[in-house]
Amino acid sequence: MNIIKLKIYGNKNLYGEVQIGGCKNSAVAIIPAAILCDEEVRLQNVPQIDDCYTLLEILSTIGHQVIFEDLDIIIKPNQKTKTNLVTSLVSKLRGSYYFLGALLAKRKKVKTLYPGGCNLGARPINYHLDGFQKMNARVSEKDNLLILKAKKLCGTTIDLEFPSVGATINLMLAATKAKGTTIINNCAQEPEVEDVANFLNSMGAKITGAGTNQIIIEGVNKLYKTTYKLMPDRIEAGTYLILGASSSGSGVTVKNMNPHHVRSLLDLLSEIGCELIVNEDSVFIKSNDTLKPFHVEVGPYPAFPTDLQQPLCSLMTQIEGTSSVKETIFHNRFSQIPELSKMNANIYLQDNTIYVTGITNLTPSHVIAYDLRGAASLVIAAALCDGTTIIENIEVFFRGYEKPVEKLAKLNITAEVIKD
Ligand code: EPU
Repeated sequence: MNIIKLKIYGNKNLYGEVQIGGCKNSAVAIIPAAILCDEEVRLQNVPQIDDCYTLLEILSTIGHQVIFEDLDIIIKPNQKTKTNLVTSLVSKLRGSYYFLGALLAKRKKVKTLYPGGCNLGARPINYHLDGFQKMNARVSEKDNLLILKAKKLCGTTIDLEFPSVGATINLMLAATKAKGTTIINNCAQEPEVEDVANFLNSMGAKITGAGTNQIIIEGVNKLYKTTYKLMPDRIEAGTYLILGASSSGSGVTVKNMNPHHVRSLLDLLSEIGCELIVNEDSVFIKSNDTLKPFHVEVGPYPAFPTDLQQPLCSLMTQIEGTSSVKETIFHNRFSQIPELSKMNANIYLQDNTIYVTGITNLTPSHVIAYDLRGAASLVIAAALCDGTTIIENIEVFFRGYEKPVEKLAKLNITAEVIKD
């Protein structure tokens, strides 16, 4: 495997227009969920990111035919889908855990390695497994492999301890073909949950309530051919909006996005003094010389998303005074702190709150990306520097951001991938 770095030539006066791609966190569920279909699935607006390519490769290894047709992806059904996921591909990303719900529903069994993904502290999947067990599946572990089996999956009522995105979607996948009705209470309300439910319903699933705190799934026997267009990625949109807010150029237009999905971010950016023009599917943002410091706490949707906490830290360096952001979802989502410090940021962590005092003229440096959104925070910081920054281990960024070099170029930022 190549070790790649990203070299970014900073330009604080950035401006221009950027197009947002399809949503990563619904794509990583919809691709595994496609195996539930008894006919052909055509997906549109799938983001061109490494996590999706990895999942499509897993689909091929378990016997599905995957066809790329222009920008559409066609997945052909295979009633005899293999149920062994003993491939290192599974450990490359978090989203591979959606094969648990999908294979359990389709084949009533699955044997798999544990999912990987960004290291954000402990990321257990006990809510997923407890829910599968309530639906009548047996869960065991042997030689570090997770084994799930069910004679018959049965509908039931599941009360989630926390509105986990992954558990909500995984249980919804399993329930789609279970016998009877499944009710998931205290479920996640993130737009990605709704996108996955809309996809399943487009094939004939019977799911109501997605987007609220209670989802009801009436199991069906068969799912039919569909063409489904994924929603835009709200975190990619949020990242470019934060970049626009951090810069001193003439403004950035983020196109092909859903402003409702980033309401908490737009409210914050407006409160601190950014100029915003919000249209149906685009947002124009222009910063202001005197943005106000703020405090924000992340939380489950519709609260401020944890996925934008790291990018937000780079904006905080450009605001006079002390701003802070409290992380409440993940125990260790702070990899950007030492790296931004290397770039001269005045940043520290106390308990689970990050404090940043600005304004800092960030200095170009040699930094390391440890996780996807940490990488995004470094890319923003590098864009704001006067000079050239090198970000190592940039593979983690390509896992979840589509064509970033091309998109940064649209904003007048030159970036270059360097392969060792
Ligand atoms: N949790 C448990 N047990 C479980 C499941 C979750 O204790 O069985 C805990 C987690 O450890 C965490 C909290 O509950 O502390 C929330 O986890 P959640 O299940 O909601 O997150 P996830 O499914 O692991 C997805 C996204 C993340 C995003 C979070 C929160 C995918 C593949 N990942 O993770 O995306 O941050 O929801 O919105 O959809 C990213 O895109 O960079 C990313 C990390």
